[in-house]
Amino acid sequence: MKNQLVIVLDFGGQYNQLIARRVRECGVYCEVMRYTTPLDVIAARKPVGIIFTGGPNSVYDETSPHIAKDIFEMGIPILGICYGCQLMAHTLGGEVSTCITSEYGKTETYYDTNCALFADLPEKAVSWMSHTDYISRLPEGFTVTAHTAHCPVAAMANPEKKLYAVQYHPEVNHTEHGLEMLDRFLKNVCGCVGDWTMEDYAQTAITQIREKVGDGRVLLALSGGVDSSVAAALLSKAVGERLTCIFVDHGFLRKNEGDEVESAFADWDIHFIRVNAKEAFMERLRGISEPEAKRKIIGEEFIRAFEREAKKIGQVDFFVQGTIYPDVIESGAGDAAVIKSHHNVGGLPDYVDFKEIIEPLRLLFKDEVRRLGLALGLSEKLVWRQPFPGPGLAIRIIGEITDEKLEVLQDADWIFREEIAKAGLDRQIHQYFAVLTDMRSVGVMGDGRTYDYTLALRGVTTTDFMTADFARIPYDILEQISARIVNEVKNINRVVYDITTKPPATIEWE
Ligand code: XMP
Repeated sequence: MKNQLVIVLDFGGQYNQLIARRVRECGVYCEVMRYTTPLDVIAARKPVGIIFTGGPNSVYDETSPHIAKDIFEMGIPILGICYGCQLMAHTLGGEVSTCITSEYGKTETYYDTNCALFADLPEKAVSWMSHTDYISRLPEGFTVTAHTAHCPVAAMANPEKKLYAVQYHPEVNHTEHGLEMLDRFLKNVCGCVGDWTMEDYAQTAITQIREKVGDGRVLLALSGGVDSSVAAALLSKAVGERLTCIFVDHGFLRKNEGDEVESAFADWDIHFIRVNAKEAFMERLRGISEPEAKRKIIGEEFIRAFEREAKKIGQVDFFVQGTIYPDVIESGAGDAAVIKSHHNVGGLPDYVDFKEIIEPLRLLFKDEVRRLGLALGLSEKLVWRQPFPGPGLAIRIIGEITDEKLEVLQDADWIFREEIAKAGLDRQIHQYFAVLTDMRSVGVMGDGRTYDYTLALRGVTTTDFMTADFARIPYDILEQISARIVNEVKNINRVVYDITTKPPATIEWE
């Protein structure tokens, strides 16, 4: 291992992988381990630093996660976050009590800039708090390095022993300068050089995949989206021609997209199978206009098309999924109501004969997946592709789908995307697309009356796609888009812009 290692010890908090991701953002390699990992195993890995995560428990509860005091004697710098902060105080002889009022959310915080974590940062800034316990007495050798109106120990430190702890969450975006604080811990306290890159990640992942796969055969369902494409690139580097990618083109992709996906992988040393299944999909969707019915049919038909191809290949050893970390969190949502039955190729394994699943992107966030894609040599265009729903344009044509409507939508959507790119807004607007409504209205063109379809444009800004705001596209750009669409696309005589947020609307219309 050429890079320095930082270990994130997981005490069950919700932001554990986010902490790991921030450490990577600082250019430092890290691994998340359970808090039960024996100290000798930790020591054997020679970490240059350890971070204790948050967790949902109270430290004075006997059954909550604890840690042997010896960890503080190993001479390795430690940063405790939230529960990790209280655990450090409790284990080293301080006192943790229940707050009279718990602190939650953005909180004005006062920092001691003499502390290594806060050097050269403002003395007052907002931090993100989420706690009902607080440190009421410091352990010996520690001083208070930050406080808030309700929390006397928002941070504490024992620089001599290189032990630091913060009650708030520096890893979340709401904490101003949080990333800089983590960076200071890593670089100034742990002595990290910050030389870890996505190329290193790729190299490590490739080695691990090779070890796991051996001589086995690997199957991957490629949708052409960012995640499955990056997974394919990674697997192709790892196992080359033992990888088979099946790309089911259901016919509802954006204009030219099927060909673009195929050509992106044309030069790779893999087996690439494109299944043109549009006829089969259209056949099953004839006369269907209810959104959930459409989604279900497409999901089923997709599996069938995939299965038919997979059967021709026969037994495979591994099945690859491009699951990324936010998918893992969302699928863990348990009792959440089904708003839309999302169709992802991820639903396939039950139907395919394979031994094991490989999910090489499982711990990465979307922007990391994009950087990994670039590191693996995928094009900017593919890597920056906006999210696209599995059922594709089928759920952007309201009502029954016909070949004519599909063509109208592909053409209009193409113009919309072209104009947004021309205006340089393609990275600022996180998702934008056209929807062909089922409504017709009267218009006038030349001297004649028209009675044609209304096209809706949707553009949103969002960080997580769980909530979204409509994008403030300048009027003159909207004007240009509307003019081009009504002039260049047949059967559209009216263009509207969707100005609803999510919630209450969803991003897609169906
Ligand atoms: P909604 O419409 O639920 O969309 O606000 C949130 C995000 O999810 C995408 N989306 C899907 N992605 N399979 C997918 O892989 C689906 O069935 C699906 N439906 C919606 C949508 O484009 C947006 O980015």
